[in-house]
Amino acid sequence: MKDNSLTVNQRVEPLTAAVNEKNHLTLGGIDVVELAAEFGTPLWIICEDTIRAAAQAIWEGLKDYPNATPSYAGKAFLCLAMAALVKDLNFGIDVVSEGELVTALQAGFSPEKIFLHGNNKSLEELTMAISNAGVKIVVDSLSELEDIIDLAQRYKRRVPVMLRIIPGIDLDTHDHIKTGHSTSKFGIPLDELERTVEMALEHTEHINLLGLHAHIGSQGMDLPPYLQVVELMGDLYKSYKDKFGYEMPHLDLGGGLGIAYIAEDRPIALNTWARTLSDEVKRVFPARGLKLPELSLEPGRSIIGTAGVTLYQVGRTKELAGGVNYLSIDGGMADNPRPIMYQAKYTAVVANRMANEQNSGDKVWSIVGRYCESGDIIVEEVKLNAKRGDLIAIFATGAYNYSMSSNYNRTARPACVLVKNGKAEVILARETCTDLLRQDRMPSWLA
Ligand SMILES: Cc1ncc(COP(=O)(O)O)c(C=O)c1O
Repeated sequence: MKDNSLTVNQRVEPLTAAVNEKNHLTLGGIDVVELAAEFGTPLWIICEDTIRAAAQAIWEGLKDYPNATPSYAGKAFLCLAMAALVKDLNFGIDVVSEGELVTALQAGFSPEKIFLHGNNKSLEELTMAISNAGVKIVVDSLSELEDIIDLAQRYKRRVPVMLRIIPGIDLDTHDHIKTGHSTSKFGIPLDELERTVEMALEHTEHINLLGLHAHIGSQGMDLPPYLQVVELMGDLYKSYKDKFGYEMPHLDLGGGLGIAYIAEDRPIALNTWARTLSDEVKRVFPARGLKLPELSLEPGRSIIGTAGVTLYQVGRTKELAGGVNYLSIDGGMADNPRPIMYQAKYTAVVANRMANEQNSGDKVWSIVGRYCESGDIIVEEVKLNAKRGDLIAIFATGAYNYSMSSNYNRTARPACVLVKNGKAEVILARETCTDLLRQDRMPSWLA
């Protein structure tokens, strides 16, 4: 099942995916049928080697850039174990909430390696970032900068900030995950940027303006929009150097590189993406008489997406008139909302009978979830020889699955295990009904 010519983010399955003598799928050297028996289903399985290879590909692409500092965008998938792994890979980390910030700090990230993002950070979140001296705040608006100046004065701090811009550059992706277009809710519009830079520079006692940030969207497949961003950044850095005599020392080009969810998807390889972007900075900045800034990239999906596989068990099957066939699994939109949110496509296999069972049989199935929505369909149409009790593995579910999961229908979230070299350990325990009831309170008049 492996095509070794493909870089991590171009493959649908994790690097360690294989088939054993029992004709079962194995991940990280472990039979997934055994994983299902030990940890239950649905089960999120994360392959550590795949994450390491993805991070390595980024480092490889950046190796000829003198001061590159990649970060991992925690929103794609974050828990203590993931944060510890990212730290071990020598990446920084992007967080967008108090919860993500606490997770990164608790995993031992030094504040200097943390970037706080978000279009509507609360004063509590800003205060938390400021009190952990060194956390870089990626400012999303002029009024947020005003708040940071107030807080920095109050706490007598000098806060390192980046300014997120709306570059007005469109990524060819689903509308819900575009963020670079001129009407985006994220970032500072270009016509307010100069005033924002000026304000930061008027408050150097409290604000350390590091540079500009742009993130144009997610699941991008091609390079041209990213290259446009570099060109625009070069122009902006030059114009502020000319106008204010200040050369910003840091540049963040965001994340957003896509992965393959189905065999036909062919995103740019991770290392090519990192190398081409950093080469472009090396061309564009010196051409304008600028020094090379410290360069950050912040991939999320392309680091964790391919590493994840979700394992489900088939329950009921239904064959309706007109050739409509349903294979009902024991999970669905609550552990993977991507199909219902943005019509995402996935690749499914019968994990307990790998050879000869994929793309075979005479039936086309819709793999549907157990939740009370007709749109809860994980894979729209797939030919599989599957029956009740089989295990279905869905590939490329590492990113934006656990992190976007819910307790819809009052169901408990699955467990998540990390696999490596024949070992599997739980990194997120399966929720129970006790967890579901933990926050419930009874008003006195009903008790
Ligand atoms: C500011 C920012 N950086 C990085 C990312 C990561 O994007 P991706 O997971 O597509 O690489 C996102 C995702 O929305 C983001 O908003």
